[in-house]
Amino acid sequence: MSSPKVADMFPRLLAYARPYYARIAISLIASLGVAAADVTSAKLIQPLIDYIIVDKNYSLVNFVPFFIVGLSIFKGGSKFIQEYFIKTAGQLVVQDIRNDLYRHTLRLSMGFHSRSKAGNLISRILNDVQSLQRSAADVMVDTIRESFTMVGLIGLAFYTDWRLASVAFVVLPLSVVPATLLGRRIREKTKRGQQSIGELTSVLQESINGIKVIKAFGTEPDENKKFRDENWRYYKLLRKVLKYESLSSPFIEFIASFGVAAVFWYGLNRVISGQITQGELFSLSAAILMLYVPMKRLIRVNNVFQKSMGSAERIFEVFDEKPEITDRQDAAEVDKVRGEVQFNNVFFSYGDEPVLNDFVLTANPGEKIALVGPSGAGKTTVASLLSRFYDPIDGSIMIDGLDLRSITLQSLAKNIALVDQETFLFHDTILNNIRYGRPEASREEAEEAARQAYAHEFIEQQPEGFETVIGDRGLRLSGGQRQRLCIARAILHDAPILILDEATSALDTESEVMVQMALSNLMENRTTLVIAHRLSTIMNADRIVVMDQGRIVEEGTHRELLEQSGVYRKLYDMQFRDE
Ligand SMILES: Nc1ncnc2c1ncn2[C@@H]1O[C@H](COP(=O)(O)OP(=O)(O)OP(=O)(O)O)[C@@H](O)[C@H]1O
Ligand SMILES: [Mg+2]
Repeated sequence: MSSPKVADMFPRLLAYARPYYARIAISLIASLGVAAADVTSAKLIQPLIDYIIVDKNYSLVNFVPFFIVGLSIFKGGSKFIQEYFIKTAGQLVVQDIRNDLYRHTLRLSMGFHSRSKAGNLISRILNDVQSLQRSAADVMVDTIRESFTMVGLIGLAFYTDWRLASVAFVVLPLSVVPATLLGRRIREKTKRGQQSIGELTSVLQESINGIKVIKAFGTEPDENKKFRDENWRYYKLLRKVLKYESLSSPFIEFIASFGVAAVFWYGLNRVISGQITQGELFSLSAAILMLYVPMKRLIRVNNVFQKSMGSAERIFEVFDEKPEITDRQDAAEVDKVRGEVQFNNVFFSYGDEPVLNDFVLTANPGEKIALVGPSGAGKTTVASLLSRFYDPIDGSIMIDGLDLRSITLQSLAKNIALVDQETFLFHDTILNNIRYGRPEASREEAEEAARQAYAHEFIEQQPEGFETVIGDRGLRLSGGQRQRLCIARAILHDAPILILDEATSALDTESEVMVQMALSNLMENRTTLVIAHRLSTIMNADRIVVMDQGRIVEEGTHRELLEQSGVYRKLYDMQFRDE
């Protein structure tokens, strides 16, 4: 994925803030209040000293406490309004970004998903958005408030004595240089740190998914080491970020000390020579000293901002991935098709190696075609193309004479049911898993589908029947049971075209028989493309198509193909004769 530039990301982030401009505006107004309160307190030092102490106007003393408390109430109230509105705005922006990112991730094509690490994507959606969230609010609050305060205080300083103020502000621009240098380092290291968090999530996700393999091979220590090493790498990156962050404040203070030193030296001289009053000097010094607070905060904010840009880069990298498979502008909604399937001279490759070479196949509505061939021949690829996980490089695929690219992905999904080796079940009730493709189906319909899939009996035996919650990989069910649930799901989905990628792993005979019966119910009245590994499935097909190296090499019935003594004969001798 290629990195977007900060300058490009900023307007895109800003676009997310647009719906919340009202909140931001309220916060802006309130921050004017906070800034005004700060500037006022600096300004008040002058009359305090000049009128009360120097001119001995003691009657004013009693007003001082009221003024201080009143000012603090005003500042507190303003600060509350400012923070609350800006932080909720930040939170809402981040919510929107996270929702969009998730939606975009789901839209990205199989090609993208097979290339990228799941853990890394999860980490971008959770951790990077989180980090953006944490800093977005801080950045917005502090930038606005501290900038106002700074402008106010600078104004006050110049108003009081522009000559003295100019001395102080000669050094101000100097501090910008180290701040930007440190900021850039922080952004780079943060991005690397977030990558490291992505790796950690990946390791975590893989090891939890593959816990069975880990336990079977006893590789817990290796996995532990992998995790610890990555965690340590993260610490080392973070340590650099912390170093730069901790450096920035002392650095600024060091530079600032020159300004303060110059002001006091020159200022005291001007008081002594009677050009300004004592009160003016104190008021001015207060303004300048107070000024370093917002300045330091702004630099800290810059650090936080750079950090969030590191995360934003990772977020926009995903946004910049364009889905390869999308609905064409004029894509048509189609209802139920009859189920004719045509592959017209299809060429396809995942990379450089051609995988399908001039592949031609027609299936009539209701026909059952068994696709056989050696491993790597391209059988699963044919199924993936029919599901439009990928588009052909050349040639076309049609259902009922309609090019797959001319109908919407939603209508295609409605017309195709896919049952493959990956018997993926969601962490949900059995009922909801069966209803997955058609949530509006009634319980009766779901039960009927389960009955046809020969799953009804074992479901009833579960502690809560159809309401039993099963694990995300259906861990509490046997392999055959999981397959039958997937078949029930496909039956209920009720699509005219069915793609079956048969499991190669043998089930025990009883399960096997039930899965076979369930499958033959499922195949009834549907155009079926079955990638067959079992002799029984092959024999039951209307036609057998033999693939090798991305093209069809033989076609016919079992008997005809055996007589040809070609690829099928060889496959038969190797795999099926014993059955
Ligand atoms: N996502 C992918 N990215 C890159 N190459 C792939 C991908 N999927 C499959 N291939 C390659 O494409 C070729 C055809 O793979 P395919 O999965 O279609 O074979 P198959 O006939 O289903 O094999 P099997 O019987 O072992 O399941 C193989 O050489 C494989 O390495
Ligand atoms: Mg395959």
